[in-house]
Amino acid sequence: MADRYLSFTGTAPGRFLTRRLGLPQPAPLRRDALDGGLLHLTAGRTDLDLAPVLARAGLPADENGRPAAVVLDATGVRDVDTLAEVHAALHPVVRAVTAGGRVVVLGAPLDPADHHQAAAQQALEGFTRSLGKEVGRGRTVNLVRIAGADAGAAESTLRFLLSPASAFVSGQVIEVRAATGPVDPVDPVDPVDPVTAPDDWGLPLAGRTALVTGAARGIGAAVAETLAGQGAQVVVLDVPQAADAARRAAERLGGTALALDVTAADAGERIAAAVPGGLDILIHNAGITRDRRLVNMDADRWSSVLDVNLASVLRTTDALLAAGAVNRGGRIVATASIAGLAGNAGQTNYGASKAGVVGLVRSLAPRALAEHGVTVNAVAPGFIETEMTAAVPLFIREAGRRMSSLAQGGLPVDVARTTAWLAHPASGAVNGQVVRVCGQSLLGA
Ligand SMILES: NC(=O)c1ccc[n+]([C@@H]2O[C@H](COP(=O)([O-])OP(=O)(O)OC[C@H]3O[C@@H](n4cnc5c(N)ncnc54)[C@H](O)[C@@H]3O)[C@@H](O)[C@H]2O)c1
Repeated sequence: MADRYLSFTGTAPGRFLTRRLGLPQPAPLRRDALDGGLLHLTAGRTDLDLAPVLARAGLPADENGRPAAVVLDATGVRDVDTLAEVHAALHPVVRAVTAGGRVVVLGAPLDPADHHQAAAQQALEGFTRSLGKEVGRGRTVNLVRIAGADAGAAESTLRFLLSPASAFVSGQVIEVRAATGPVDPVDPVDPVDPVTAPDDWGLPLAGRTALVTGAARGIGAAVAETLAGQGAQVVVLDVPQAADAARRAAERLGGTALALDVTAADAGERIAAAVPGGLDILIHNAGITRDRRLVNMDADRWSSVLDVNLASVLRTTDALLAAGAVNRGGRIVATASIAGLAGNAGQTNYGASKAGVVGLVRSLAPRALAEHGVTVNAVAPGFIETEMTAAVPLFIREAGRRMSSLAQGGLPVDVARTTAWLAHPASGAVNGQVVRVCGQSLLGA
């Protein structure tokens, strides 16, 4: 469903009229390239050796005072006085950031033994989210908390946030924690490093096998396409009724199709059988809505949504991990939703299922990494333009689109590129995170 309002505000009369009426001013997002260089700033004393990582990220240093990206290293901010350096660093430059540009603030984890440091670092969160809500013009603002002084562990995350791939990701707080992977039982002196820099950053998933559930259409189809475009061998899974579309998608991507309902009791075993070499990337994307207010919701609506969106994710993940069918260095990405974070009228079943996904990710992530060398994260899409949201009534659809800092819906490719970052071999330090792809929706935190 085309976003006519976005097209209208892109015209001179549209801009004039909507500005006069005080209506939202969505800026077309830059999904191809950022328009300018990089400015690296610091607040407080830092131990982070960031310059080599930023140099590799591919943006030239800003030379004309019109940066497309600003990185503020605030990891060393330990008290309210030093917090003033955050203001001093960004106040003079924010206005100059080009349309569709990026601001990335780097922070440190909160120190439980130092409440002044914790206060100052938590302050960065409120700062980042507030700046994201005011910068406008398609610009985004995110906070990355880096545990430890290893900037290399954050390289894939910085590359993502400083690229067009993160166009619809704003107001997020992402923790990067370099952790040692499991000790290899065959060679116990050689711990598996969960952060593996790819040979080719342009084709990081070469040689990896990925399975995407619900990939015959919508977001899942975009995820499959993006992963294949980055070199992965893709298995396109969808229900038997969508087998033709799944087969066509698989043929287009040089992958294979798997006609399977994820709620089948033996879904995990059948997936494992379809990938004899094991899976490197498992994307739980299949999902359904059956909306009704709780007073009108029968048990079938409740259980069908809980089964597809949550129980099947738990069952198949358990079965695949137990069978050793997710390879070391593997990545699991589940699909939550902002409805699971903020709640949504008419979606008690859906909201419960998607909040359940968040709980699953947070609990399983540390154990999956320690025991299997596998990271577990979630994307939480906001309003994304798909057949699912095209079915939403007009006024609710318009509200969903406009009520975000970017004042528009996202595209399936925005979720796909975020998923690809989490699935990246160098993203092993990103674990247990729930990353909203919502243009900083005004609903929820
Ligand atoms: N579109 C949005 O705005 C939005 C927002 C938040 C979250 N999400 C989530 O993103 C995911 C994809 O959403 P979408 O908009 O692309 O939906 P969609 O309805 O367009 O596509 C979902 C796909 O999943 C498949 N599927 C459904 N049940 C299945 C099952 N039991 N087994 C296998 N496949 C099954 C469907 O056949 C379909 O191809 C879902 O988990 C959804 O809840 C979407």
